[in-house]
Amino acid sequence: MTFSRILGTGSYVPEKILSNTDIEHLVDTSDSWIRERTGIRRRHVVDERESTVDLAERAARAALDAAGLDPREIDLIVVGTTTPDRIYPATACRLQARLGAGGYPAFDVQAVCTGFIYALGVADRFMRTGSARHALVIGADTHSRLLDWSDRGTCILFGDGAGAVVLGVDDVPGILSTHLHADGNYEDLLYVEGGVPRGNGVIAEGNAYTKMRGNEVFKVAVRTLHRIVDETLAANALQKSDIDWLIPHQANIRIIEATARKLGLPMERVVVTIDEHGNTSAASVPLAFDVAVRDGRIKRGDNLLLEAFGGGFTWGSALIRY
Ligand code: UT7
Repeated sequence: MTFSRILGTGSYVPEKILSNTDIEHLVDTSDSWIRERTGIRRRHVVDERESTVDLAERAARAALDAAGLDPREIDLIVVGTTTPDRIYPATACRLQARLGAGGYPAFDVQAVCTGFIYALGVADRFMRTGSARHALVIGADTHSRLLDWSDRGTCILFGDGAGAVVLGVDDVPGILSTHLHADGNYEDLLYVEGGVPRGNGVIAEGNAYTKMRGNEVFKVAVRTLHRIVDETLAANALQKSDIDWLIPHQANIRIIEATARKLGLPMERVVVTIDEHGNTSAASVPLAFDVAVRDGRIKRGDNLLLEAFGGGFTWGSALIRY
């Protein structure tokens, strides 16, 4: 049997920081409300010169360094993103050109906050079937560009960033399982109206702002993540106590705490970066992963449960023996 293993991780957040106090000047909110209701203290946001592929490239190069691989050894790139710089080419293709190689498959997966988990699931299947030997899997988003800075229900939540892993084939796992789901019936709760032009050459029909019925999304997210924890453990015949680290999507600290409670995990075994990064959409899980690898919390042999929930609705998980 062929499996994929994580050879290296990397991440990047833009330098510019927006604190809760900065946002107090934009909308009727307060630092204490944001911290108590979401767990967020600050977020990093791109300046006008930076783009999603810039963030993806920084994270990718850091992951390649950690893996000790030359970019020319990569033979698959999958990028989870909802904020590509252009309608096309895909962010993955633009990144491939920057890495100085070509010919192998490179494509984006659009699953909003679940984008990285989807990308990982797809790449893992390429590796298991012998279609790739070294994959770059990235979550990268500049969600700050999809925010209405007068809507306090959304503009307080999101930040920008990228996280990456390099996968290599091995005869031991690695990635034990990935679980991907979607239910398209919830579009009204979380969406961006704008899309490609309807033949008139105008960039966006409607506006390009994230619209969310936060409280309703919150409830579905908690219920759904509970289900996926059970599904993931059962698929691997594992007990809750077998999980060493939960690496959750960083949407709201109260959602994260609910998932930790479901797993019976103390918060010391949960990687939390939401205070520093906010919700970085597809980047949030690989960013948190890289932070905890680099600060030495996550060690080789640990069992990791990654999970995410986002627009679509999409949701998914991955169980990894690091
Ligand atoms: O990553 C993709 C998935 N996204 C998520 O999982 C996000 C899920 N949702 C959430 O994280 C939370 O629902 C929010 C943080 C967005 C909102 O928190 P909430 O506890 O669900 O608040 P709420 O929408 O029920 O509103 C409670 C009160 C309302 O005031 P009243 O009606 O009680 O007077 C809101 O108007 O809080 C008010 N409020 C705010 N107050 C200060 C809403 N947003 C703010 C704000 N600052 N930014």
